Amino acid sequence: MRFSKDLVEEIRSRNDIVELIGMYVNLKRAGSNFSGLCPYHSEKSPSFTVFPATQSFYCFGCGAGGDAITFAMRSENLDYPGAVEFLAKRAGITIPTDEKEERGIGRQRIYEMNLAAAKYFRNCLFDEKIGRVGMEYLAGKRKLPLVIIKRFGLGFAPDGFGGLTDHMKRLGFTEEELITGFLCGKSQKTGKVYDYFRNRVIFPIINTSGDIIGFGGRVMDDSKPKYLNSSDTPGFKKSRNLFALNYGKNHCSERLILCEGYMDVIACHAAGFENAVATLGTALTSEQARLMAKHTKQVIIAYDSDEAGQNATRKAIRMLTEVGLEVRVLHMEGAKDPDEYIKKYGADSFRALLDAGKTGFEFKLDATLEKHDISTADGKIKASRELCEYISEVNSGVEREVYIAITAKRLGLSEDGIKNDVASIRKKKMVEYHAGVSRQARNDAMGIGDRINSDGIKNIKARTAEEAIIGLLLLFDEYRAAVISKKVELDGEDFFSEFHKKVFETVCSLEGDGEYDFSLLGQFFSPDEMGRLEGLIQKRRELTENSLEVLRGCAEALRQEKQLSGQETIDAIQLLLASKREAKK
Ligand code: UTP
Ligand code: MN
Repeated sequence: MRFSKDLVEEIRSRNDIVELIGMYVNLKRAGSNFSGLCPYHSEKSPSFTVFPATQSFYCFGCGAGGDAITFAMRSENLDYPGAVEFLAKRAGITIPTDEKEERGIGRQRIYEMNLAAAKYFRNCLFDEKIGRVGMEYLAGKRKLPLVIIKRFGLGFAPDGFGGLTDHMKRLGFTEEELITGFLCGKSQKTGKVYDYFRNRVIFPIINTSGDIIGFGGRVMDDSKPKYLNSSDTPGFKKSRNLFALNYGKNHCSERLILCEGYMDVIACHAAGFENAVATLGTALTSEQARLMAKHTKQVIIAYDSDEAGQNATRKAIRMLTEVGLEVRVLHMEGAKDPDEYIKKYGADSFRALLDAGKTGFEFKLDATLEKHDISTADGKIKASRELCEYISEVNSGVEREVYIAITAKRLGLSEDGIKNDVASIRKKKMVEYHAGVSRQARNDAMGIGDRINSDGIKNIKARTAEEAIIGLLLLFDEYRAAVISKKVELDGEDFFSEFHKKVFETVCSLEGDGEYDFSLLGQFFSPDEMGRLEGLIQKRRELTENSLEVLRGCAEALRQEKQLSGQETIDAIQLLLASKREAKK
């Protein structure tokens, strides 16, 4: 897999990065650049910057960065060839076929395959003989109206190992494709390929662009596992999608209902609540929280009322608040989840419940008062401590004041007492936070915990020199030429860190072929690594002294460090030998 410099140049020139990123991030002009809130980490003031002059982006907060291709990889969840294809398509460029070879299985192919499979599952469900058990379960036992079964594209996977496999092969899909798409498994013993979903009702998972990205399959009795889900594939990341957001996205500008499961969502929709979504069998992720924030203002959490559900609720409140969403918690009594509640009490009761949803604070207050017996001194102190802790995390002063007043009243304590406690917890946290920040800064400076350049910590002098070298080489054409022509003496072996060595060697090899382009590095380095490279460029750009002498000096510094570290080993060994001689005497 290797793309040409010409192709990426054309793709870059026809996909203006400001316009591209502007589709995902609200950008504001800041001098000659643009800035906005980073889509890759939670922040309140913008540190995400787009540079039109170099067609690149960099977040000074989390270190995400790179070019249009890196951005497409991150935002559209694509691999490098997928991102190249995505941007080419967007600009109406046709990729020459020889550059498409060895592409592996792309997203579009997976979608095609899933669509074909979904049709197969649906036909099975609607087949009077084959799908009878499935239909009895969905329409009979779960009481789903036919329109809802059709609207959600539900299906049925018959019991048997080869039905889908044979059907899909007949349609021209290869075994490799079926396995990659998680529709089939391969027996370790016999090497035979078999249907992954068997004797289950099928829930297609559809993204907001209308592509089927995967499936969930439920058993119709109490056997385990209750649900099978597609694993992540080139087209599907569970952590970045929400079930039914494709239906909900036009009904949710005010509010989304976040449920725990597929069936809850479907029950909500059937009862007329088309703004219900769910995660895909995993805990809520910050990516999903941001995805919701893109579509709505308020999220009402409707998790199960069991302990697991309540724990998950607590975590979700935090994550959703962090991305600026207003959060409410549904309090269901007499039923464990929305599905059961609606069946038992009807849609109108459920609507009333939605409007009476508790705020995050009310949820915390009730849970705390339930946990502690506040008629005893001990219980009262514990409850107060917990609530003060919660309130201390609230950023708005007005909100804190309101909660303090409520807490004081409910516990029968003075407002001033609660207020003082909250203030002292906040103060303590501030001190801890600043200590944490400076510890982090110190660690960063020393390279502790650096996952991208993990051996940078070995030698700080060398790391600094290497970072300067890489920055300079990425920034200036003539320095790359100088290294290739040996005008500057520098070799991969001079580097201390594996990461920097790999960058150096990749850059030189592309340059040597006359094919260097920053965008092409994306096929050899992950988006995180590309962000680091963009960061090294930014660092250099801030400095005025970027002459060839600096490059030479850094190369020289590396060699000196190598010599020193070489001597140390010799010395250590000599010492060892000497001490052995001593011991023998
Ligand atoms: P639930 O057990 O609450 O499922 O799990 P549900 O959707 O309400 O289904 P019914 O009402 O029992 O039919 C919540 C979610 O957790 C995931 C699924 O996404 C499910 O919708 N899950 C659950 C799994 O992925 N695997 C399992 O074995 C169980
Ligand atoms: Mn359920």
